[in-house]
Amino acid sequence: MISFPKHLIDAIEQRKKFGNLRTLKPHSDGIDFYSNDYLGLTKNQAFQDVLLQLVNDNPTCLLGSTGSRLISGNKNDYQEVESFIATQHLTESALLFPSGYKANLALFSCIATKHDTILVDELIHRSVHDGCRLSAAKKWKFKHNDLFHLEALLQKSEGTVFIAIESLYSMDGDFAPLQEITALAARYHANLIVDEAHAIGVFGYGLVTENQLQNNVFATVVTYGKAFGIQGAAILGTNLLKTYLINFASSFIYSTAMSAYQILSIQKAYQFIAQHPELKNDLHQKIKHFRASNLTTSSQDKSPIQTIYFSNVEKLHQTVKILEKEQLKTYAILAPTVKAGSERLRICLHQSNTIQEINLLTEIIQKYQNEN
Ligand SMILES: Cc1ncc(COP(=O)(O)O)c(C=O)c1O
Repeated sequence: MISFPKHLIDAIEQRKKFGNLRTLKPHSDGIDFYSNDYLGLTKNQAFQDVLLQLVNDNPTCLLGSTGSRLISGNKNDYQEVESFIATQHLTESALLFPSGYKANLALFSCIATKHDTILVDELIHRSVHDGCRLSAAKKWKFKHNDLFHLEALLQKSEGTVFIAIESLYSMDGDFAPLQEITALAARYHANLIVDEAHAIGVFGYGLVTENQLQNNVFATVVTYGKAFGIQGAAILGTNLLKTYLINFASSFIYSTAMSAYQILSIQKAYQFIAQHPELKNDLHQKIKHFRASNLTTSSQDKSPIQTIYFSNVEKLHQTVKILEKEQLKTYAILAPTVKAGSERLRICLHQSNTIQEINLLTEIIQKYQNEN
């Protein structure tokens, strides 16, 4: 019998002690206030029909790609879909990845050398940190959305400088000051990288494209596992960026390419979203309705992510359980995903949520938040 290392057991025990041990729970039906399916596409019959048709027309697309894209896995569909995506975002190129995590890992692991500096917003997604850990560059964090702190770090940064932000932050539901950071990056000749995982689909094809900032941004990462209702990601930028990544990004080079189904479904999702602007408009009406309840939240007006702080973790867990009894699925975000002391209830709003469901949710939270 192999003995499990003691320090790993201690780490689990520590989590149990602080009430933040993660466990995998079986999926149960309920009213979705916790997924990233912002446009409700995974519940949309018409979208499901489009994907079924894709498979019917093209049954071999379900099969594996047989190898990395540099060897046997580079099907013609890849090039076509990547050109299509680049056109939608008005960029020179797009490079597809099986997930946003892998896209960030690929990008941040290879763009900077030990002489360079990567400045990351302190709330940037874990995948960016993990990418930076594979890089020899210096990584410095700037205070969340703090332009003064970012500028102070830019003044001391060495070598080629990269700045990493999210356009809409997933844990706080607030936006980056995109225009201001773009201007600051330009002033210091720094290369801005924007992760649009939570903004694409909710705000057109993302806030970089919406604000026509694509020519001022070094790279944009868009993901398809959230509002797009499928899976995958793309890094958008110049042709030179794409050539560089194909040559130096390990998680691109040494990994089996996505199946043709995954690639073609991304194109179908772009087309479906373009044909159904009412989904996005409906989502924004639901967000507006939620905001009108006047719950105390630190999130911003148009954000589909609304976070609610509780004074103690126990109270937060209780509220999630009470909501669960009413079939309302929410999620408590705990340390270490967020800083200890800033544990919160995260509400994700969807096009598919009804006004009645939102009312029920806000009434219950209001009751328990006020009892704090
Ligand atoms: C900001 C951000 N970037 C990247 C990712 C990773 O994307 P994916 O789920 O496609 O791996 C996530 C997912 O949670 C995210 O929130």
